[in-house]
Formats: sequence, C-alpha cells, structure tokens
Amino acid sequence: MRKNIVAGNWKMNLDLNQGIQLFNEIQELLKVELSGEQEVIVCAPSIHLSSLAKSLEGSSKLSIGAQNCHQADSGAYTGEISASMIASSGAEYVIIGHSERRLYFSESNELLAQKLDVVLKNGLFPIFCIGETLEQRNGGTYFDVIKEQISEASFHLDGANYSKLILAYEPVWAIGTGLTASPEQAQEIHLFIRTLLAEKYGQTLADNTTILYGGSCNPKNAAELFAQADIDGGLIGGASLKARDFVDIIKALN
Ligand code: PGA
Repeated sequence: MRKNIVAGNWKMNLDLNQGIQLFNEIQELLKVELSGEQEVIVCAPSIHLSSLAKSLEGSSKLSIGAQNCHQADSGAYTGEISASMIASSGAEYVIIGHSERRLYFSESNELLAQKLDVVLKNGLFPIFCIGETLEQRNGGTYFDVIKEQISEASFHLDGANYSKLILAYEPVWAIGTGLTASPEQAQEIHLFIRTLLAEKYGQTLADNTTILYGGSCNPKNAAELFAQADIDGGLIGGASLKARDFVDIIKALN
C-alpha cells in the first residue's frame, strides 16, 4: 500500500547516548505535533538498534531501520551484520543500495539483488536506493542508469515481494551537497520509476509503491518536493540529525 513515509538516515553519526537522546526527542515531538498519516522510520547505526527498540513507545508511529546488511544468512564474515540479526534487534527496515555503499564499498546491482533477497527472507522491509551521479545527469544517461539499477537489482523479485519494497530516488549529486533536485526534476524521475514498475508488475503495484526522494531535503524545501504527485516522502540524511528539523520535514508531508 502506498504510504506517506519520512525516513531518517543517521549514517555513521552519533554515539549510543546521543542516538538514544535524539530518538527520544523525536518521539516526544511526534507525540505532541504529529496528527497526519505519516509514518516515520529512523535508520540508525546497527549497534544502536536494540537500544532504540527498547526506547520505542508502543503507540508510536516511529519504526527503526538499519542502513545495510550482509547478503549471506550467516557465516565467517568478520565484522558483518546479517538480516536476521537486524530483525532480532527490533528493527523492521533496512536501507539497501545507498549510493555511499555503492561508491565506497563497491556494491554492484548484482550484490544488491542478493541483499534484497536476504532482507525480504528475514521479514524485513527494504528501502532500496537508486540515483545517478552528476556526470550521468550531465551526460544525459540518467534514465538508463536508473532503469539499469532498478531492473538489475530488483526485477528478479515476484510481485508479492516487490510490494514490500520502499524505493528511494537519491540523485548522488544532491546527497549532502546542499544541492537539491528541483521538484520538477525529482517528479520526472519518480514518474519514470513508477512507469517502469507498471510495465514490469502492472499499474496497481506501481500505484501502490512508496517512492521517497532523498538529497539535501530540509524543512524549507520539503513541502514543495512532497507536493509532487509521485513523491511519497523523503529519505533524510543531515537534517535527520536534528529533532526539530526532522519533525518539521515530517510535518511538511501531509
Ligand atoms: P542528505 O542525505 O539529506 O544529507 O543529503 C540523504 C541520504 O544520503 O540519504
């Protein structure tokens, strides 16, 4: 079912105490200020997840997610974290294919296909990221890049599994740069993504898929982005580290 979602991506920031404090601040603000139908996800460092799950109040619209997981079920992969470990921590979501993972950890579409499988197999919901670099945008190949990322990493899934995905369009040139895609640029890609999904899985699944925008989203630009027909919310990096900004972004989604 298509939902209105704002997800925060804390990346490699905040020690455990700072993380718990921010999480509680967000929770308090949401309790008082959130009246709409928005759902909120906080994707924290994996080592924080079980503590955040304990801080979670039952009635809250807040859920917890991880930022990555290994593609294997278990095994001799020193330092890695499996999807079942994430599920057992109380988290429900996992970001897969963030551009920082693709760039710094050489994650390919083929690897991401395996990660999507293991996440789904463990009953978690993937937040699957796609997006072009500045070079690809300027070179005019961005539609092809997006199509390739989506088809190679996710089109092996059947419709039942695909309906569990949240997609996040994050132009790499807009992440952490202060440059935001214009609402029209973002809408163009979101519509393109929905069209790809309709061609592959049918219009109903495409219409029911939640597609988030990410990349320098902030309290000032969020409402205009979220007002676009095919933008269903945001994946927020820097601005998710401040409770006030994050909650203002959530409130812009109505
Ligand atoms: P940003 O990051 O909001 O800091 O640009 C977004 C993301 O990387 O998910």
